[in-house]
Amino acid sequence: MENILISGGAGFIGSNLALKLVSLGHNVRVLDNLSPQIHTNSKENSQLYQSIKGKVTFINGDVRNRKDWQKAIANSTVIVHLAAETGTGQSMYQIEKYVQVNCGGTAIMLDVLANEKYTVKKVVVASSRAIYGEGKYHCESHGEVYPDEREDTQMSNGQFEPLCSICKQPLGMLATDEDSKIHPSSIYGITKSDQEQMILVACKSLGISAIALRYQNVYGPGQSLINPYTGILSIFSTRILNNNPINIFEDGKESRDFVFIDDVVNATVLAIQDNKLKSCSLNVGSGVSTTVQTVADSLKKLYQSDVDIKVSGNYRLGDIRHNKADISKIKKLLGFSPKVSFDDGLKQFVDWVKNQEVNSDNYEQSINEMKDKGLMK
Ligand SMILES: NC(=O)c1ccc[n+]([C@@H]2O[C@H](COP(=O)([O-])OP(=O)(O)OC[C@H]3O[C@@H](n4cnc5c(N)ncnc54)[C@H](O)[C@@H]3O)[C@@H](O)[C@H]2O)c1
Repeated sequence: MENILISGGAGFIGSNLALKLVSLGHNVRVLDNLSPQIHTNSKENSQLYQSIKGKVTFINGDVRNRKDWQKAIANSTVIVHLAAETGTGQSMYQIEKYVQVNCGGTAIMLDVLANEKYTVKKVVVASSRAIYGEGKYHCESHGEVYPDEREDTQMSNGQFEPLCSICKQPLGMLATDEDSKIHPSSIYGITKSDQEQMILVACKSLGISAIALRYQNVYGPGQSLINPYTGILSIFSTRILNNNPINIFEDGKESRDFVFIDDVVNATVLAIQDNKLKSCSLNVGSGVSTTVQTVADSLKKLYQSDVDIKVSGNYRLGDIRHNKADISKIKKLLGFSPKVSFDDGLKQFVDWVKNQEVNSDNYEQSINEMKDKGLMK
């Protein structure tokens, strides 16, 4: 039995992880500031908070505050660092906040460990697929390549597939493995890469084992239905249930690796319980890519809705085109393989949403913000 601190433990992944760890007999402490973007303005209305209330020791605190970290770290044997600002698009104009919370918060955690007494043996940090930017592709002429961020001029002509930076020919997507080039295309991605590297480097010098889990697109029951900045399944669901049309960006063929929450929790538990690995980064995904058009069509069908699905050709600067994780490393090192298919997971998600109160749809507001900042075309 471990004393496990989860920063951000009231969030989507954190709350599910906390409940699983409690069921396995661990003592769980949560450090979370109940950010209104995820939890509304009251604890009472936050279903995620209510789901862990009374089952964990809850510290209402901020990762930007050293005293909150000191209190939270005391007697902990494992830290799972999940607290973060998580919106890729939002990170492009709330730069100071993203860097302060994600990088600054991590820096304070490590500074406390480096300068004070601790009982921590392991740190697990939530990294992200965002650190890979466009990820790995195949070029007929140049083999394995890492394309540059797509240009505005290219996308405004409706050409959305990444091009080889050497011969400018279209590329084929490859699964991105952990040795792939790190080249984030958003401030969010940069902060996740910084978090990961800071933790791997500092923990090594402190003799603490550290595992960075590069989560792909996590979805499932419990994900925020009020945060319009992240979570495509939630955004589309909220649009559908408010009878608003869905605007699909680009040509709808952009794709993501969607991994179900239970699989992510299982992978994280395996990383916590492992006692062989000293320090490493691991992809956590389904290993399957699903197009955004498929997501929209499947949701429309499951909700039995007749809202319009419009493929608009709009695009966001900094968005990646495709994503699929190579998950052979985590399979080999931790014995992880995902259990829930996208179809089954989506059905579970929709069944859960149908029992939720889905109120306002703040999506237009988030799009207007992107337009105002010149990021949405
Ligand atoms: N959900 C995904 O698809 C996904 C994919 C890749 C990586 N991740 C990473 O996994 C982690 C958890 O993601 P999630 O989907 O559960 O996000 P979430 O937004 O649901 O949870 C984050 C939690 O952190 C808390 N938090 C935010 N700022 C804080 C601060 N300053 N101090 C203390 N607590 C703070 C929030 O209140 C929230 O409860 C994040 O680090 C995220 O970057 C998530």
